[in-house]
Amino acid sequence: MKAAIIKKYGKPEVLHINEVDEVYPDRNEVKIQVRASSVNPVDFKTRSGSIFFMSGFKFPKVLGSDFSGVITECGAGVKDYVPGDEVFGFTNAVTEGGAYGQFLCVNTSIIAKKPANFNFLEAGVIPLAASTAYQGLYKEGGMASGMRICITGATGGVGHLGVQIAKAANCHVTGICHSRNKELAHQFGCDEVLPYDQIQLEKMNQQFDLIFDAVGKYNYFTFRHLLNKGGTYVSTVPSFSTVFKPLLSSLSKSKKACHFWAKSKTADLTVLSRLSEQGALKPFIESVYTIEEIAKAHALSETQKVRGKISIEVDF
Ligand SMILES: NC(=O)c1ccc[n+]([C@@H]2O[C@H](COP(=O)([O-])OP(=O)(O)OC[C@H]3O[C@@H](n4cnc5c(N)ncnc54)[C@H](OP(=O)(O)O)[C@@H]3O)[C@@H](O)[C@H]2O)c1
Repeated sequence: MKAAIIKKYGKPEVLHINEVDEVYPDRNEVKIQVRASSVNPVDFKTRSGSIFFMSGFKFPKVLGSDFSGVITECGAGVKDYVPGDEVFGFTNAVTEGGAYGQFLCVNTSIIAKKPANFNFLEAGVIPLAASTAYQGLYKEGGMASGMRICITGATGGVGHLGVQIAKAANCHVTGICHSRNKELAHQFGCDEVLPYDQIQLEKMNQQFDLIFDAVGKYNYFTFRHLLNKGGTYVSTVPSFSTVFKPLLSSLSKSKKACHFWAKSKTADLTVLSRLSEQGALKPFIESVYTIEEIAKAHALSETQKVRGKISIEVDF
């Protein structure tokens, strides 16, 4: 089979199409013909070698985490799926990857049926970003109806889906983004938009129950004056503050801070699928690249100025 692989870490140009070994499903796995994937920042971080201490030095590597596609074969223990089912999910981008390949074998615990109203490109851009937003807001942040929520990176991959998930939960959402993205952030559902290039966050005086930081350039101390008593700061990127504040929080029981790693789970993907089918969740796709153009797609993602998601059409 064919795949976009790397044989060493480096710039986007280290990605190229090659023949790789065929994959076969284990007992509780399904084999999926990948139809679409996306680029998440973790994909280019893995490709560049900046997280080599987690990704190791075994090459070649088939990168790619998000996938949507069609099941072509089921392991002997698989009961919930049959060949022909259209599914979506994501692998651990750092240690597994595989989504930039023609076929992929995964355990059924990390997939769900693709939203019926989404094409493969739409279903292929949401698994990691939407699961991150969903798990960050609900499970880490304790999101509940009526809360006042602030989301940074409100037009980025995770952020724009987070805004929609928070609005579907009847929360008041304030988005932080660059002023050029203000209108788009309102389109995603933000009630208020704060352009970080025109205001000073440290001089703001709003109060939030939950701050979901989907950028990674801030930390708890940037925002603690904006948190209600008992409020929570959740980050998608670890920092000194999210590593050590939980220890302090457990002593003071005041404001909380944490970071987390999203996991692909059937239950969460099923909720996201339902939200999509209800029209509450819709990804914004900035651009579509073919798998042969994967290096260009990685280069665009590395600008960290993407609006919504970059889709990869996987059609070898
Ligand atoms: N923990 C996890 O499991 C997990 C999962 C997914 C992602 N992540 C991490 O979360 C981060 C965001 O992921 P993503 O997929 O949403 O990335 P993305 O699509 O590239 O979006 C990044 C966002 O950051 C904003 N941004 C860039 N520079 C900024 C700055 N100086 N100040 C404020 N905002 C800035 C951009 O908005 P503007 O253009 O408006 O500036 C953009 O919306 C990445 O670091 C990623 O690795 C972690």
